[in-house]
Amino acid sequence: MPSPKIIQFPLSELLVNEVTEEFNLQYGNKPEIVTLAPGRINIIGEHTDYNEGLAMPVAIDLWICTAISKYSKDYFSVFSINYRQSVKLLPNTTNVFSEPWIKLVSSVINILKSEYGILGGGKIVIGGNIPIGCGLSSSTAFVISVTIAFCNLFKIRLRKRELAIICKKIENLALGLAHGLLDQYAIILSKKDQFMIIDFQDDSIKYLPLSLNGCLWIVINSRINRELSKSAYINRVKECRKGLEILNSWFNINSFRDIDNNMLLELEKGYNIPYKRLLHLLGENIRVKKMKVQLEKGNKKQIGKILQESHESLKTLYEVSCMEIDYIVKISESFDGWYGGRIIGGGFGGCSLHLIAEN
Ligand code: GLA
Repeated sequence: MPSPKIIQFPLSELLVNEVTEEFNLQYGNKPEIVTLAPGRINIIGEHTDYNEGLAMPVAIDLWICTAISKYSKDYFSVFSINYRQSVKLLPNTTNVFSEPWIKLVSSVINILKSEYGILGGGKIVIGGNIPIGCGLSSSTAFVISVTIAFCNLFKIRLRKRELAIICKKIENLALGLAHGLLDQYAIILSKKDQFMIIDFQDDSIKYLPLSLNGCLWIVINSRINRELSKSAYINRVKECRKGLEILNSWFNINSFRDIDNNMLLELEKGYNIPYKRLLHLLGENIRVKKMKVQLEKGNKKQIGKILQESHESLKTLYEVSCMEIDYIVKISESFDGWYGGRIIGGGFGGCSLHLIAEN
């Protein structure tokens, strides 16, 4: 008997159907608007976005989906498919919740309502297939998906970069963080089949065709929860700023991009931690430039080598890896067809990205 023909729907289409059906179950009618926001990976350029550095992210086909309609009440009723939980959000109730997903959705609603003078309520269902808290930007995709849904429903017009900035503000306020714009730019400004190179010194973006024949980029989820990440992330931001402040007082520089290796040698003498963080930053910026060249040449070995150098730097200088992901990267070296890999995202667990031969 011939094998059956399998018709595979894109993950986004399956998710849209699931969220639309759940909306119907929860509220008894179809949503007025449905939005999707993707997750992201970062080829190279980690912990550079808040340091005026370079990065090379790209969106992936895993998504957060939001369905929304107006409501006759003055509150928002929100149902999360992933948590099987619903919540009623009365006006001005941002910080009374402990669950991160509720903090995020209430932060979107309260900030947009107050900034754009919106009155009225809404019905929302949110679902997603991005693994949560694993370094693939599930929270940012969540905020962006809900924000776009809200803005469409209430006819708020935002340009893409304005959307990125307001979404960063919403997320940082909700979770008490000071992230850069890497995730928002990657999710909002990615183009199909292209890498983007972002320069965070002037926020300029260039695109590069993504064509590495015979290879696959794969993501391995270590399933190590990134519990430590919040306070450690804030510390890394502070340590880099401290390094810049000291160098500024010695060499009269204002930007991370003015730092050079000689300045770092001076810093090493009395300030080992800022020295290590900034040494990572300088090296990582160079790796982004090298990666562009090697991607254009299609030199898989060199691309793999750059990934491994980045991992080593994130492990020993920036100190944001964890032993489980170090193990995954180390043991991968013994496999034929593995070119290289590294931890991605904020760190302390989550995912690693690897380049492997297709076969
Ligand atoms: C997290 C943050 C980003 C970026 C990365 C590290 O994903 O949200 O802004 O700093 O960590 O590159």
